[in-house]
Amino acid sequence: MNNKAILHLAGIPRAMNAVNLLNEISSLYPEAISFTSGSPQADRYRLDRYSHYIERFVTRHTIEQGWQTANTFSLLGNYSSAMGITRHYIRQHLATDDNLEVEEDQIVITNGAQEAILLTLQALFKRQKPGSLVISTPFYSGVDAAARMLGIETHYLQESEFGLTPEALLSLLDTETESANPVRAVYCCPNFSNPSGTLMPDKTKERLVELCRNKNILLIEDNTYGYIGYGDPFRPAKAWDTTNHVIYISTFSKTICPGIRAGYVVTGQTTMIDGTHSSLAQVISTYKSLGSNHVPGLIQALIGGILEENYFSVRGYIAEQVTIYRAKRDHLIYCLREYFGARSDVSWTEPQGGFFCVVTLPFFVDEDAMHTCATRFRVIWLPMSMFMPAGSISQKIRLSFSNVSAEQIQEGVKRLAEYVSWTIKEK
Ligand SMILES: Cc1ncc(COP(=O)(O)O)c(C=O)c1O
Repeated sequence: MNNKAILHLAGIPRAMNAVNLLNEISSLYPEAISFTSGSPQADRYRLDRYSHYIERFVTRHTIEQGWQTANTFSLLGNYSSAMGITRHYIRQHLATDDNLEVEEDQIVITNGAQEAILLTLQALFKRQKPGSLVISTPFYSGVDAAARMLGIETHYLQESEFGLTPEALLSLLDTETESANPVRAVYCCPNFSNPSGTLMPDKTKERLVELCRNKNILLIEDNTYGYIGYGDPFRPAKAWDTTNHVIYISTFSKTICPGIRAGYVVTGQTTMIDGTHSSLAQVISTYKSLGSNHVPGLIQALIGGILEENYFSVRGYIAEQVTIYRAKRDHLIYCLREYFGARSDVSWTEPQGGFFCVVTLPFFVDEDAMHTCATRFRVIWLPMSMFMPAGSISQKIRLSFSNVSAEQIQEGVKRLAEYVSWTIKEK
């Protein structure tokens, strides 16, 4: 596929194609060192172990149910519940890793966090009274694209270096009191956000949940990177939710691998559809059943087997991997100091978790700059403006360090420094 085919889909607003675009952009420059990937380290997917995990699940489930193995095979091979057949494993994982007590019937297993976001927005905003969505910005493009596709009115709220602040949200809500489309929900990623890598302090999480409770709006918490922290474990905002104002979304894409397409949403809320109260989880699963029916039984069994073998702890399963990401983060910071330390006009973040470091350059950068750098200097990164509302400008770029080797980090930062010097001379 050529650049044009990927970047300019006829008839589809560009921002709606954001997820495709992000997934495919580095394939345009196979010769370049790519800091664009939001994937875990590809050689750590451990696919060779998957049949072992599925067998483990089959054995346990057969015993638990008092079945024959054939019954479990039939469960995995047949059509099954749209909500998911291994929700009790996820319930136990949340209790183990985050001390979160949730009911099994509040969980819907989805094809990754992306589907969880789309279905949640669909269930909250379709066929109901009007309402708008606040998106913490810079944002994960998949949430903005999903809101656009569903025609949901959005407000973009600039995050601080500690993520979305309750003060900023309150001041937006105060200006919106008379709106015909009042704010109904807020999306944010408190633990190691994409793209900024910000971490919201616990106290802020608590205050944000309290504000949502007081204003009776929902917080859609995306905890996609929550288990990839480089220090003490951080809890999700959901931990402070005593009144069911938080909808919690997570995924196994970053902890197992993205290709299995497995995530989930936890929602204990009820929603009003055509004048009747329904469980939001049921509504989400109804929408799911009409799209992809359910997550494949074998994938759910794989997750069940992994969780079971690791005492239901995802943190345990990826502990070794997290030390590797931390070393990559350290190496990236080291290289940035090495190549940019002498410049006062370049700065960078030191993320406490997740996959992303943000570098501020001495000039504005957009997608054209990204292409120029990839073509001339064979290193590719993403301009932060790609994670902002259309027309935004920024001097920042996102460097993803999860899926690059130490050598690539070193060489990639060197090439980035050459690009910066060249651009300054050109201007
Ligand atoms: C913040 C955030 N949310 C959701 C997703 C989608 O995850 P999944 O691959 O599980 O659909 C991503 C993927 O990069 C992400 O970064």
